Amino acid sequence: MSAAAAVRSAKSTVLELATTVLPAKSTAFSMIQPTGVFHLGNYLGAVKSWVDIQNQTATAFPNSNDPSVPRLLFGIADLHALTIPKDPKSLRFTRSQAVASMLATGIDPSRCIVFQQSQVPEHTQLYWLLSTVTGMGYLNRMTQWKSKAQLDESTSLTDASESALSKLHLGLFAYPCLQAADILLYKSTYVPVGEDQSQHLELTRHICATFNKKYPGADKKPIFPEPKTIFAPFKKISSLRDPSKKMSKSDPDQTACIYIPDSPARIQKAIRRAVTDSQQGPITYDPVTRQGIANLLEMASGILQTTPQQVLKDIAPKDHKELKDGVAQIIAEGLAPVRTEYERLMKDLDYVDDVARRGSLRAREIAAITMAEVNRAVGLN
Ligand code: TRP
Repeated sequence: MSAAAAVRSAKSTVLELATTVLPAKSTAFSMIQPTGVFHLGNYLGAVKSWVDIQNQTATAFPNSNDPSVPRLLFGIADLHALTIPKDPKSLRFTRSQAVASMLATGIDPSRCIVFQQSQVPEHTQLYWLLSTVTGMGYLNRMTQWKSKAQLDESTSLTDASESALSKLHLGLFAYPCLQAADILLYKSTYVPVGEDQSQHLELTRHICATFNKKYPGADKKPIFPEPKTIFAPFKKISSLRDPSKKMSKSDPDQTACIYIPDSPARIQKAIRRAVTDSQQGPITYDPVTRQGIANLLEMASGILQTTPQQVLKDIAPKDHKELKDGVAQIIAEGLAPVRTEYERLMKDLDYVDDVARRGSLRAREIAAITMAEVNRAVGLN
């Protein structure tokens, strides 16, 4: 079955596709927090699939004036970023870095709306209305506020101590409700994200159904379509220092991450230091028992758009060192054009910021139409 047919016939709310052709008139939407320049986890785990969707859409709908061309929106979630305190100056800069990273990896602002969440005030307007139909019980079960507030996964609002509760801010607790507003504001039908977002997308579908039921639009039709999740083919890129953990910018050991503009020398150094295993004999691909090796093969396969098994065949390493050198070379070569483009864009921040400014204006036009419809349904106008 072709990817296009897979999307059309999908009954499930969660799709797993390497390449996706969106149906006519659909809307793909996703966002990323402005944590700065992307690492390989951000890139292979999410943003690369945005670029793939964009390119597939361009091939399937060559005439950009065709009114049925799927709409693509990719945003910087700067309001979400504030749920963990940020220095104002660095927030501004990391936002520009994130936009430059998006553009450097191939997001084309003539095909996608690249925007900044805080510049579209309708996000917070819809967020408030959705918060009035979102049960505290559901939010209470979400895992993210617990991990970000350094609370145990089994913690519940009702049994957290008074002092733990004072440190838990409302914004962090309500984070998923703002995310639901982001998605629904554009009547999004497909949301390409990394696996860690699956719980947020489930809650979004729940809020969507609750709102639609309570506040039908004109002609009693539901206002919001149900958004489906699309998982990137590489759901999780692991830390190079500890393959059981996600690759994360906040890792104190900076060789745990590879950033998209890293030099070949830095990539080689990080990969050479990567924790694998001491198993003798042939190198094999086994994501369960050989996580470190599997992570290296998966990173290379994500860059090459092939399978980890194929990468292993191509490199044909006789030992761990040959595997690492082969993987480092694939990553360095694959990222070379991204690095060049990123460096060029960072010297032209006026252009980068202007892309986000113009994208935010276009996003606002769409958002205003939805909000008018929502306000009417709720009885606010
Ligand atoms: N929570 C997402 C993350 O941390 C970012 C995000 C915010 C998002 N709003 C969204 C992703 C809407 C998809 C759709 O990566």
